[in-house]
Amino acid sequence: MKQRVGIIGAGPSGLAQLRAFKSAEEKGTDVPEVVCFEKQSDWGGLWNYTWRTGLDENGEIVHSGMYRYLWSNGPKEALEFADYYFEDHFDHPIASYPPREVLFDYIQGRVIKAGVRDKIRFNSAVRDVTYSDETKMFTITVHDFENEKTYSEEFDYVVVASGHFSTPNVPEYEGFSHFNGRILHAHDFRDALEFKGKDVMVVGSSYSAEDIGSQCYKYGAKSVTSSYRSAPMGYKWPDNWEEKPGIVKVDGNTVHFVDGSTKDIDAIILCTGYIHHFPFLPDSLRLETNNILYPLGLYKGVVWEKNPKLMYLGMQDQWYTFNMFDAQAWYARDVILGRVQLPSYNEMQSHTKEWHELETADSSVAYAYKFQGDYIQMLVDETDYPNFDIEGMRLTFLDWKNNKKDNIMTFRDKSHKSLMTGTQSPPHHTPWLKALDDSLESYLDI
Ligand SMILES: Cc1cc2nc3c(=O)[nH]c(=O)nc-3n(C[C@H](O)[C@H](O)[C@H](O)COP(=O)(O)OP(=O)(O)OC[C@H]3O[C@@H](n4cnc5c(N)ncnc54)[C@H](O)[C@@H]3O)c2cc1C
Ligand SMILES: NC(=O)c1ccc[n+]([C@@H]2O[C@H](COP(=O)([O-])OP(=O)(O)OC[C@H]3O[C@@H](n4cnc5c(N)ncnc54)[C@H](OP(=O)(O)O)[C@@H]3O)[C@@H](O)[C@H]2O)c1
Repeated sequence: MKQRVGIIGAGPSGLAQLRAFKSAEEKGTDVPEVVCFEKQSDWGGLWNYTWRTGLDENGEIVHSGMYRYLWSNGPKEALEFADYYFEDHFDHPIASYPPREVLFDYIQGRVIKAGVRDKIRFNSAVRDVTYSDETKMFTITVHDFENEKTYSEEFDYVVVASGHFSTPNVPEYEGFSHFNGRILHAHDFRDALEFKGKDVMVVGSSYSAEDIGSQCYKYGAKSVTSSYRSAPMGYKWPDNWEEKPGIVKVDGNTVHFVDGSTKDIDAIILCTGYIHHFPFLPDSLRLETNNILYPLGLYKGVVWEKNPKLMYLGMQDQWYTFNMFDAQAWYARDVILGRVQLPSYNEMQSHTKEWHELETADSSVAYAYKFQGDYIQMLVDETDYPNFDIEGMRLTFLDWKNNKKDNIMTFRDKSHKSLMTGTQSPPHHTPWLKALDDSLESYLDI
């Protein structure tokens, strides 16, 4: 009997897992039977845009919080696959900060070429996962929306690739229930034009706050206010953008801040992050962590120490994305294939603890780039995933950081060099602030 591997989710991480097995198969390895369950009707995870908010057509919670006009927030050169280059996919070099649709096309290109779509059961929401100590097998229970039936199947290994930027963290402040305007979480933000001519407040000081505020500015908000809890973003914002400290309360349309100042606001967008949420997993198998670079419980950031037949992909906070998911997927594959021998439970735990503590040795973002790069290198060294220039990527991240510091509204106009092919990206034909059409056709000028 062939071993069976169940993958939960066909976003970039789940697709990386499918690609990893395919790559081994192409090299002549006898691979297990792989089944991927995806609750949406298409692959791509967050990159699969939907206009819907709340519930989807199947009554499931809408997974993707990506919005119209979303462009890559980091240089594409830092997320390039090491086995499928942008230049190969688009037949020529393209600029460094593609919009969502262009990146979706790139993600799809590799798995279309690999021919793995038939391994995915779409419209299939995983409801439950259990493990039997007797049979040493997992039982995955799935609802199939195409046939409206719930069924269960057994697997030797399970890979959780369901993402962790989908279930919003939604704080409440005094006066919210009487606010005379719209309050929404970033997960439900879809189109900045909704806020044209409005005084908008974004709450939070991380990527969603920075980008959603910038979108609102770009598409004509009257003013943007960003409220930080710990530290301001500190960029040189346009004249109609003001950074404020934490919120005390809201009174009608007036927001009161901890420094005693107030501001009248039309809409509040909570860019307050996400929580790791696995409603389909029992306590014994469920990862519990906040959004950090090295969660406890996962050996090499992948293997569930308490039951090493369970893997998690992409559960870290993410500087690196697609190529990190690849490195993890190749590692998970090699654990499953028996190519990587795992140490004892205690050894796994102490290794994880060491890395977990190392993460907090320095709180600078420059350190975080290095830390996550070192982590990826550790995985790449143990598998046949193509080695790539991680040090070069670290320097690209530093360039990116400096460009943002120079001008937060123009960093996406900069060009970076591919660390895979050595090609310098051409500049984009239109500055980001003026490029209002984010379609693939417009971006590629076709
Ligand atoms: C607003 C936003 C913008 C971002 N922009 C960028 C960017 O510009 N560049 C970048 O590199 N990264 C970006 N990211 C980071 C993003 O996390 C990764 O790029 C990537 O999508 C993570 O892939 P994943 O497969 O781990 O998770 P996801 O993309 O979240 O995919 C998880 C998949 O699992 C499926 N799933 C979940 N639960 C179940 C279930 N019970 N049963 C079956 N299927 C299930 C989902 O439907 C989904 O398809 C962004 C994230 C957000 C939230
Ligand atoms: N392509 C793009 O342009 C784009 C756009 C948006 C998001 N993203 C990606 O999406 C992912 C998630 O980013 P994110 O910004 O949503 O989440 P995040 O990085 O986890 O940041 C959450 C923010 O919310 C704040 N916060 C949390 N609870 C709060 C509360 N009770 N009151 C006030 N503030 C609170 C945090 O403040 P503290 O600092 O005080 O904790 C932090 O600033 C990242 O990977 C990012 O790269 C990309």
